Amino acid sequence: MAMPGRPASGLTAPSPNNAYILFLMNKLIRKSVQDLHAYTPGEQPNVKGLIKLNTNENPYPPSPAVKRVLREYSAESLRLYPDPVCTALRERLAEIHGCMPEQLFVGNGSDEVLRLITRACTQQGGAVGAFSPTYSLYPVLAEAEEVDFRPVELAPAFQWREPPENMEATLFFLANPNAPTGVAYAPALVEAFCRRFSGVVVLDEAYADFADGVNGVALAKTQPNVVVCRTLSKSFSLAGLRIGYAIGACDVVAALYKLKDSYNVNRLSQAVALAALEDLAWMQANVRKIVATRERVAAALVERGWEVIASSANFLLSAPPEGSRAEDVFLHLRHRHVLVRYFPGGRTGRYLRISIGTDAEMDAFLAVL
Ligand SMILES: Cc1ncc(COP(=O)(O)O)c(C=O)c1O
Repeated sequence: MAMPGRPASGLTAPSPNNAYILFLMNKLIRKSVQDLHAYTPGEQPNVKGLIKLNTNENPYPPSPAVKRVLREYSAESLRLYPDPVCTALRERLAEIHGCMPEQLFVGNGSDEVLRLITRACTQQGGAVGAFSPTYSLYPVLAEAEEVDFRPVELAPAFQWREPPENMEATLFFLANPNAPTGVAYAPALVEAFCRRFSGVVVLDEAYADFADGVNGVALAKTQPNVVVCRTLSKSFSLAGLRIGYAIGACDVVAALYKLKDSYNVNRLSQAVALAALEDLAWMQANVRKIVATRERVAAALVERGWEVIASSANFLLSAPPEGSRAEDVFLHLRHRHVLVRYFPGGRTGRYLRISIGTDAEMDAFLAVL
């Protein structure tokens, strides 16, 4: 089995060696884009037999209702553009969350939703705040809008630290549970911060279904500055479909509609997402399995002397025992066709982020350790 020796770092264009081309590029491409530190997505290697625990995908298949839609889908209907505002999907989501469809925006993955919120809710010369460490897309979104990124260092063990009053940000990204730590913050702390903060707070709840008692939707329905982001990528096993959504005040949602691509969610994705949302029991059963496996693996790692951060998500952030370096363990696992995520540098450099797979996959992972 061939497995590339080195993690790919995404797309990099060959650098132009001709001085004239270089001169042109400098003129044609916006300076901030030339300087942008692009987001590095987790690898998606196509290697047979690989145990893939690096991008927090769900190891279980989506609902059988999804397969039915795909099997019966009319290729002929792809002649037509999709519903530009995802009417049926928003109606179903409104039913699930007890809100109005006007409070809902559906995007091409929650990454698109986060990007549009950044565009809509930052001002020239403004700033975006977020905890550190957190989802590494947030600073990229701020940089792309040419606004400052103001990280707030988390307390020891990646616990909550109250963001300073003088942060002067108009937008704060609060992933809850956080990534890559898996830590869920106490609802009272989150609510008090949302009430105090004068800008927009995005409660990024990509992993909320794996947590007990994390749900900012009630806040988003009552506090005009709170937007909740959810995704079908994790608990619904649909990362490849690209469906994410936001719930917030009608004015914020209307701003996102102004900015989005005309047809940002394709026809097939809308139909498949609707089928998945009709079968919540399937998603919930998979979540229960993943949570049980997470707790079992956490205990097994502790037994082997690893430090484990208590997780409310579908992954564990864990540091090998003293004497082993996270990077060495990462490379060893990789060599044995087990792929986890390693974030070099800073406070995460001691840890590996391990997505929770099936019981058999996690047993194989523990065996390689
Ligand atoms: C905190 C957080 N938010 C958002 C996303 C992106 O989700 P989506 O697949 O819906 O773009 C991720 C993906 O890993 C994530 O970790």
